[in-house]
Amino acid sequence: MINIKAIITNDFKGEFLEVLEIKKGMTEEEINSIVNKALRMMTLKEKVAAMSGNNFYLLMLKDLKFGVRAYPGGGVPRLNFPPFYFTDGPRGVIIPGSTCFPVSMARGASWDVLLEEKVGEIIGKEARAHGANLFGGVCINLLRHPAWGRAQETYGEDSFHIGEFGAALVRGVQKHNVMATVKHFALNSIEFSRFKVNIQVNERTLREVYLPHFRKCVEEECATVMSAYNKVRGEYCGHNSYLLRDILKGEWNFKGFIHSDWMYGLKDTIKGIRGGLDVEMPRAKYYGRKLRRAVKKGKVPQDLLDDAVGRILRTVLKFTTKEDPQTYSPDLIGCSDHILLAREVAEKSMVLLKNQDDNLPFSTEEINTLAVIGALANMKNTGDHGSSHVRQRNIATPLEGIKDHVKNKVKVIYNNAIDIDVAQQIAQSVDAVVIVVGYTYKDEGEYIPRMSRGYGDRINLGLKERDGILIDAVSKVNKKCVVVLVGGSAILMEKWKENVPSIIMAWYSGMEGGHALADIIFGKVNPSGKLPFTIPEDPAHLPYFNIKDDEIEYDYYHGYTLFEKKNVEPEFPFGFGLSYTKFSYKNMEVESNKEKITVKVEISNVGPIAGEEIAQLYVGFENSAIDRPLKLLRGFKRIALNPNETKTISLDLAKKDLAWYNPNNKAWELESIEYTIYIGSSSKNEDLLTKKINI
Ligand code: BGC
Repeated sequence: MINIKAIITNDFKGEFLEVLEIKKGMTEEEINSIVNKALRMMTLKEKVAAMSGNNFYLLMLKDLKFGVRAYPGGGVPRLNFPPFYFTDGPRGVIIPGSTCFPVSMARGASWDVLLEEKVGEIIGKEARAHGANLFGGVCINLLRHPAWGRAQETYGEDSFHIGEFGAALVRGVQKHNVMATVKHFALNSIEFSRFKVNIQVNERTLREVYLPHFRKCVEEECATVMSAYNKVRGEYCGHNSYLLRDILKGEWNFKGFIHSDWMYGLKDTIKGIRGGLDVEMPRAKYYGRKLRRAVKKGKVPQDLLDDAVGRILRTVLKFTTKEDPQTYSPDLIGCSDHILLAREVAEKSMVLLKNQDDNLPFSTEEINTLAVIGALANMKNTGDHGSSHVRQRNIATPLEGIKDHVKNKVKVIYNNAIDIDVAQQIAQSVDAVVIVVGYTYKDEGEYIPRMSRGYGDRINLGLKERDGILIDAVSKVNKKCVVVLVGGSAILMEKWKENVPSIIMAWYSGMEGGHALADIIFGKVNPSGKLPFTIPEDPAHLPYFNIKDDEIEYDYYHGYTLFEKKNVEPEFPFGFGLSYTKFSYKNMEVESNKEKITVKVEISNVGPIAGEEIAQLYVGFENSAIDRPLKLLRGFKRIALNPNETKTISLDLAKKDLAWYNPNNKAWELESIEYTIYIGSSSKNEDLLTKKINI
């Protein structure tokens, strides 16, 4: 792409200075040396110009739409330093035509990190084919409460699990020389108040619960980090020197650049640059002219400016000069191979929550007539319409998926359930029923002032009242039914769960979701997803959440750690999901050496058909001298097994992952105690084998 010998003259004095040669395949030293030279040659105006997005409003005026192209920023035209081109995600590249994957929460339910890396690779390829080189879609905020509007953009409630997925997406995207942005740093888990809410958090909670997944992505060498809109301990994240300078750039030695979240992410020129924010997106409002003035007045030291510009130039150069593994022609965008992967992800992410008396799978041999009921069955419903909206028209709805699957073997009758009596009559007249209910972008998503219809966050944690009435009406007259839930996080189902034999959590399942769903309902695919969060019976069991508060405390416990600590039974535990076959665990072994603990276990498929199981490894801290969770996830593995097949899996657990953060010593400390190691099919103790180990 770039191979330019730039003879550089200083524009102002006209004197010959130096030759900067930017070429493919440069080493880190060569990049550093060029950037250092450039920093000496750049004018203040050029430096400041490299620290923001460019021409955003001009481009918006031209397109009259957001997201239809990549947005430039950074760059030094006189020195031939290339800009970055930002596009968003995470359910694919948002620019029209891209492959639309299931949302991240669904992907989290696949527990398949290798698959996530493949998703990342496709996103990387399509970004490049669109002319983008910065992907702002690695969203890894922790799901603290299911009402969070953007829950669908992250992977779940557990920091370890989110970190594995975030790192995998970074790896995949960056293979194609696209910079991955990890966002929103940090503690951004409420939508409506996101521009102002102040998150109070103690040091242990910050270090152990809300930051480790970010650290994992930094260790994966993510190119950039996006600061969050909210405040942490009284300071906006875009200015928060404790988060940005001390932790991210200091302790974690993050080498890339930090850019603001868009529009309202930076509120003050001097606080921003002092706080550690390198790039203001999507345009210069507090940087640009204001920053120049502040530097001239001596309010901002040159070295802070040079540090920021150096990071931007080095990072962009590193990615734009690396040899590409392939070429990126536009016909890659939304191509058939990519669509196939979207289907595989949808298949592996759907979670079978209930299946009484093997009600599913339905058989086309036994069913002659099938009713598909509910407006969502016939809707292209891939999730939020905010910044993560992938513009893809070719979407298989549940109804289309089912029709394509059964062809002319089964008569399919669709009813939108506007009239519940009619829906009930139809249900009574057929052999089996699929009810599709849940949410759309109108119920949950990103809160964008003046654009969002609602508040972003969910108002209701259960289904809409009408959906509940529909389920009751249909299940009363036809017991051969399945409820398919569409949504981005936990949906409470206490009111109707007992009335139906089967429930599938289908998520916003992307452009191939309808096909994947049909394959699961009719048994072509054996369901294998597991919940990446806990589903409570009662909202009172969840942490405090109020979208109107200006300040909120994030506690140490949430999700399964909270349920276990309080000894409350959830409706469905973290890590839970059924299959059409059965797996058994035996012969657990635990060994340890200086660095790690290795856990082995035999898993057998003891049921009638092939299937995939997700084994989960937890560590228990009941002997701790301090207050710690009863147990924490520390490993997982997906494994395919034929009927009667047994495989031994082995999972390594780094001893450092047993440590706790001691705020008094400002250090991670490993307790020398007896730990319990658990391995099994969900976080529920009854589903786990255990062994004790002394460290
Ligand atoms: C969102 C970010 C997104 C950005 C640009 C913001 O409102 O919070 O997640 O990357 O818009 O699309």
